[in-house]
Order: sequence, then structure tokens, then C-alpha cells
Amino acid sequence: MEAKKIEVCCGGTCLGRKSDEIFDYLQEEYKNTDTAVHMCSCLGRCKKGSNILVNDEKVYHYSKVRTIKERIENDEGIEYNRYDDEDKLDLSSDFLGDL
Ligand code: FES
Repeated sequence: MEAKKIEVCCGGTCLGRKSDEIFDYLQEEYKNTDTAVHMCSCLGRCKKGSNILVNDEKVYHYSKVRTIKERIENDEGIEYNRYDDEDKLDLSSDFLGDL
């Protein structure tokens, strides 16, 4: 699967695990290509962060700068539905936990 849209979670937990560095890296790697790289809010999988979502379909847990591009190119993500069963979501470490 070719990555056309990459979203880097910049919720509290993932940012604490340096997802901003992953975002900067991917933006640089995919500049001048058809692939858009964005930041996004919490993906509900905080304990497995940093999380990256590709094409609204696959999530990449425990993402690191040194391996994420290869993992995306090898299509190693896990099926993901942003609107999946809320019981499966873990928002406890995100800002929503403070509400
Ligand atoms: S902060 Fe990234 S999945 Fe929740």
C-alpha cells in the first residue's frame, strides 16, 4: 500500500515520546512527493505510542525516527478504525483524561 496520507499523533503521550521529531523527519522525507504528512490528535492508543496513522487505515505503534519510514514502506501497520469501539480506546493518558 502506497502511503498517501501520514498522520503523526501529537497528543500528550505521543509528544512525550518525541512524536514531534518523527513528524519533522517524515515531513522532510516526503517533501516534494504526493504523500501528505500531518499532525493529528490522540488516536486512542496512547500506551503504544508514538503512533502514526497511514491512509486512515493502518496504525504504527511504538514508532521511532530510525525505523518508521521502512516500516511504512513495508506496510507493517495494523488495521485501524478511528471510530472503532470506544471501549478499546485508551484516552487515559491524553488531555481528555483531565476532563
Ligand atoms: S497521545 Fe498518541 S495515541 Fe493518545
